[in-house]
Amino acid sequence: MVTNKPIILKEKSWIGAGSTILAGVIIGKNSIVAAGSVVTKDVPDNCIVGGNPAKIIKKL
Ligand SMILES: CC(C)(COP(=O)(O)OP(=O)(O)OC[C@H]1O[C@@H](n2cnc3c(N)ncnc32)[C@H](O)[C@@H]1OP(=O)(O)O)[C@@H](O)C(=O)NCCC(=O)NCCS
Repeated sequence: MVTNKPIILKEKSWIGAGSTILAGVIIGKNSIVAAGSVVTKDVPDNCIVGGNPAKIIKKL
């Protein structure tokens, strides 16, 4: 089945080059997705996530 839920990028979050974010994921305020990550779950506010699947690598 193909899903088309929206991806939500909260205030001041940003996405590193070449990342993949799955449908329905919310990227929290001030959070950063490291380059090349695959984000499968919601990202909390104020953190950096990276890897595949993306995990928290730093809290801001
Ligand atoms: C996420 C980012 C901002 C982190 O920068 P930083 O705060 O200087 O972090 P560091 O380089 O100190 O790395 C911290 C940890 O995250 C890991 N990490 C950094 N980038 C990563 C990535 N892309 N994927 C997975 N892990 C990553 C590091 O290996 C390090 O792990 P360790 O603590 O086990 O050694 C940076 O790596 C990044 O991805 N920038 C995006 C660049 C980009 O897309 N530019 C677009 C130009 S158009």
